[in-house]
Amino acid sequence: MTPALELEALAVDFASDRGPITAVEDVSLRVLPGRTLCVVGESGSGKSVSILAAMGLLDPRRATVRAQGLRLGNVDLLTLTDDRRRALNGDRIAMVFQDPMTALNPYLRIGTQLTEVLDVHRKMAKNEATSQAIAMLRAVGISAPESRMRSYPHELSGGMRQRVVLAMALLCQPDVLLADEPTTALDVTIQAQVLQLIRDSQARTGMAVVLVTHDMGVVAHMADDVAVLYGGLVVERAPVADLFAAPRHPYTRALLASIPSAAQRGHRLQAISGVPPSPQARPPGCVFAPRCAFAAPICQTVRPVEETLADGRTVRCSRHADVLHG
Ligand SMILES: Nc1ncnc2c1ncn2[C@@H]1O[C@H](COP(=O)(O)OP(=O)(O)O)[C@@H](O)[C@H]1O
Ligand SMILES: [Mg+2]
Repeated sequence: MTPALELEALAVDFASDRGPITAVEDVSLRVLPGRTLCVVGESGSGKSVSILAAMGLLDPRRATVRAQGLRLGNVDLLTLTDDRRRALNGDRIAMVFQDPMTALNPYLRIGTQLTEVLDVHRKMAKNEATSQAIAMLRAVGISAPESRMRSYPHELSGGMRQRVVLAMALLCQPDVLLADEPTTALDVTIQAQVLQLIRDSQARTGMAVVLVTHDMGVVAHMADDVAVLYGGLVVERAPVADLFAAPRHPYTRALLASIPSAAQRGHRLQAISGVPPSPQARPPGCVFAPRCAFAAPICQTVRPVEETLADGRTVRCSRHADVLHG
């Protein structure tokens, strides 16, 4: 099956006074239609930058994006013109951020913002757009949606705003929804409701979901597949059950060991002793070597490549075979 979204060897450099900073060094991700890929990893590992690159939202004056491939279904995103690329956003691929206000205009009514999406992408007449927007607000659990259409963002609670943003993202039935910590700012009950809305919508439309999260409970609940990022690299990719049952990268192992029960909701990834490398000071060998319980001399000098194992998962570790028994 053709992946709904595929990133192959994505790299992103930011310009700085002291030369380019490689924020993302080598990230490959793929998600099939109807499936959910959870992306996990400590703060600064490159999750948001990878998502923004996939959306084409990085400022080209500051960021250089390179990749072997970047595809939305059969569409090659690397060779599209800027105009055609932009036209896909909010239509075939949509995004929900952690802070709903980044996606909402504080000066426009909710209804205006929702119907504009359908005007831009579908050239839909006002009346029809209004009724579709109302139906979508109802679908994401907003009561009295007709009167909510006239509200401004500041008149809504944080949970309501995130529902509105989700409604906006889902209006055109995108093939891919990218959600970057969409529920981090919400309380646990609302968080569960918003995640359920994403699942319901996925079940209806078969969209693929890429969900960035810190919460391993969310991973256990939502993921089909998981990608673990560390220091701008994907260090392991696996189906969720395989990853929880037998992590193969020492970082994944440490990550899972740092929570009492990986399947328990609400437990966040805890810091592993030591700090992740800054993009300006990545070690020459394996980026995780300075914090790794399994590090051998080879790990200090050789940057491991991503290897595909017999069971189909990928791992980036010279010593992955020792990790299972270590
Ligand atoms: N606009 C930017 N300019 C320079 N560096 C950036 C920029 N955005 C992010 N970075 C750096 O890129 C790295 C990855 O950031 P990010 O993707 O936001 O991490 P996270 O995994 O927490 O989402 C970090 O080291 C961050 O400091
Ligand atoms: Mg982030």
